[in-house]
Amino acid sequence: MVTDSLEALREQIRQLTAQVEEHGYRYHVLDRPDITDSEYDELFRRLCRLEQEHPELALPNSPTAKVGGPPVERFGTVRHSLPMLSLDNVTNPDELADFEQRMQRFLKTDEPLEYVVEPKIDGIGVELVYRDGELMVGSTRGDGTNGEDITQNIRTIRSVSLSLRREGTAVPRLLEVRGEVFYPTEGFQRLNRQREEAGEYVFANPRNAAAGALKQLDSKITAGRPLDLFFHGMGTVEPADCASHAEFLEALRDWGLKPVPLTRVCAGVEEIVAYQEDMESRRDELPYEIDGVVVKVNSLELQRRLGQIARSPRWAMAYKFKPRQSTTRIADIQPQVGRTGTLTPVASLEPVQLAGVTVRNASLHNMDEIERKDIRIGDTIVIERAGDVIPYVVRVLAEERDGSERPFEMPDRCPMCQSQVYREEGEAAYRCVGLACPAKLKESLKFFGSRNALDIEGLGEKLIDQLVEKELVADSADLYALEEDTLASLERMGAKSARNLIRELARSKETTLARFVTALGIRHVGEATAKVLSDHFGGLDAIMTAEEEALTEVRDIGPEVAKSIAGFFADEANRRVIDKLLAAGFRPEAEARAEGALTGLSFVLTGSLETMSRSEAQKSITALGGRVAGSVSGKTDYVVAGADPGSKADKARELGVRILDEDELRAMLGG
Ligand code: IVH
Repeated sequence: MVTDSLEALREQIRQLTAQVEEHGYRYHVLDRPDITDSEYDELFRRLCRLEQEHPELALPNSPTAKVGGPPVERFGTVRHSLPMLSLDNVTNPDELADFEQRMQRFLKTDEPLEYVVEPKIDGIGVELVYRDGELMVGSTRGDGTNGEDITQNIRTIRSVSLSLRREGTAVPRLLEVRGEVFYPTEGFQRLNRQREEAGEYVFANPRNAAAGALKQLDSKITAGRPLDLFFHGMGTVEPADCASHAEFLEALRDWGLKPVPLTRVCAGVEEIVAYQEDMESRRDELPYEIDGVVVKVNSLELQRRLGQIARSPRWAMAYKFKPRQSTTRIADIQPQVGRTGTLTPVASLEPVQLAGVTVRNASLHNMDEIERKDIRIGDTIVIERAGDVIPYVVRVLAEERDGSERPFEMPDRCPMCQSQVYREEGEAAYRCVGLACPAKLKESLKFFGSRNALDIEGLGEKLIDQLVEKELVADSADLYALEEDTLASLERMGAKSARNLIRELARSKETTLARFVTALGIRHVGEATAKVLSDHFGGLDAIMTAEEEALTEVRDIGPEVAKSIAGFFADEANRRVIDKLLAAGFRPEAEARAEGALTGLSFVLTGSLETMSRSEAQKSITALGGRVAGSVSGKTDYVVAGADPGSKADKARELGVRILDEDELRAMLGG
């Protein structure tokens, strides 16, 4: 009798699971639901309830298992059985035609090639492995060969099937499938609104938000984010039955995996260009960010014959869009006081939508820039935003002027503390001299707790504002004298956040010499230079007492930086803060210098890297004994240039310093 009802329950759960799976498939993959959202939710809830009451009867890969599991300490490593490559770029039809001709030459044919062209999703590349139709592993691209095991996070994505459908195309024994995790634009805007209200750091773009959600060690947090995933490629597939990429995309749909949408089969360059232009004109209507299109040879046999060059397939190419531009008006220009007292003119704009975010401000950098572009208050301007770069003013639309525009002048008193503002000979920047300027203090505290300095979680902007305004801290060392009760009484705080912050502050004292020196916020001394100082001098005392001349002799430190360092430590007030920090319990120690393949070599990093952050690159280089400096000089061996490299790459060319791209760097790091 008991077994009977148990059997009936088992059957009920099995049927309900199948229903939820089928409707989920129709909703997520086919985009053709045949029941309402609330009917679906009801089925889903019923299944959840039954599974909760009888956990032993729940099917292993049930579609309800999307709530995240227990947090992990760190992600494991997953080796991709076939490397996950990157894509080369073209930027115009001529380069696209060259790409086609290169392939034809390689294949020794004049025959036209057939392509599948797809949107290039601006997300995070991942690989999922299904064995016998069950999801086993999900990983990030990592360096292309080894990625991070983010299976638990991938499993929380609503549209990802944990078990493949078995109708239609036969499910392969092994399916390694690749795609792009993205943060839908609407959800991204909602997330940033919430974060802004909570006084938290906002994400620069949906891509960063997706990366943030995927890298959570606690998958319950990931489960709360509306991540989605489009599939666009394959790793190893056994047995491999498809003859073309288009067929593979169709098979994905049969298996319940959402292929990248809006793809088109194109016969030649002209059709591809038309598709790319069409996509570019539609990109603002799409509910996700795309930054170009990807052109792929359709035949898998031809793909195999074409193979790869360096780290990119010869058979695929990204054809990116132009950076997005908008037109708006400068309502006002206000100087903003930075950590080192620099007054940066910032334009308040009439709010405008650009690349998925509302832009309200644009930095005008300095007076030289304002003069060069002849920017005035009231001007109509064109702004641009490429990737996650902060929006900047491309040009003024002078023809829109009506005579009411006013030039901006730098004030001679600091807007925050009324101290004098001066401009050093030969420099673009204006600086506030005020020792006790609250704006400087706020910025320096923010920097002190920032990720590459002491990485103090919970020391956010809103809190710092209150600490400074209520005169609870006058320098960074005062943070360590704060009491839990005082913190708990501040706005948006409360007992728990106060306790956490006190714990974080205590933890922050256990840090390296390089991070400690970074946190001091010495002008011209970022993470890289701080590491150079730590490696060279090996102790805080030695750095503090080094003469300007001795500093100049350190590799990678030029005269201007040496002057800034010596000047900083010569200052009584700065020394007092350092003494207070030491009295609070800081014992900064230099890390042992690694010896390895890069010993004796000096690198400078510029531009954004695709497969690793700059910090990661720096760590990998120093782990092999290399050094990473902050600026290019005659002593630099290599400049690593990522996307949108700045003036450092120009300087390298000027000095004849060898420039590496990301692939070459990876090769030096040993793949
Ligand atoms: S194909 C070997 N297709 O763009 C082929 N990639 O810049 C490489 N991406 O690492 C992948 N949308 O993460 C392909 N429709 C699409 C894509 C796409 C976005 C990403 C992918 C890749 C990066 C290269």
